[in-house]
Amino acid sequence: MPDVELHLPVVNTVLERHKGSAGALLPILHDIQERIGFVPDAAVPEIAHALNLSQAEVRGVISFYHDFRTAPPARHILRLCRAESCQSRGAEQLAAQLRERLQLDDHGSSADGSISLRPVYCLGACACSPAVELDGRVHARLSAERLDALLDACREDA
Ligand code: FES
Repeated sequence: MPDVELHLPVVNTVLERHKGSAGALLPILHDIQERIGFVPDAAVPEIAHALNLSQAEVRGVISFYHDFRTAPPARHILRLCRAESCQSRGAEQLAAQLRERLQLDDHGSSADGSISLRPVYCLGACACSPAVELDGRVHARLSAERLDALLDACREDA
């Protein structure tokens, strides 16, 4: 079944649920992402029509908030801390390592679908910088070798 047919009933259920609510765009987008895992492109015209917005306005909001995904999520979510303490203790070298291994600039998903990369601005582990969060678990005092091991583990469970 094509994705459009697969996702539209869910999108329509969500739109019906939020019908008549003021400021419904963000709750609708969150609701769709929670149910489908991402906001499919086929949802955009439906949302725009329901809220009397242009498709460009809806797409603008989706792209403005980096937490919204427009494709299915990768198997693992890796968030590299880019805040001050981590920056001063090696986060930029880790970012360069991620760029090289995943071919990603701070954001997006690896071509094999194993890892989605996102920046984060403090994980509450400043005393143990630099830090990343992998699938909700913080890894602190991260070295290049430990980051490599985490990436290898993510790719091995494919
Ligand atoms: S600055 Fe990175 S954990 Fe706080």
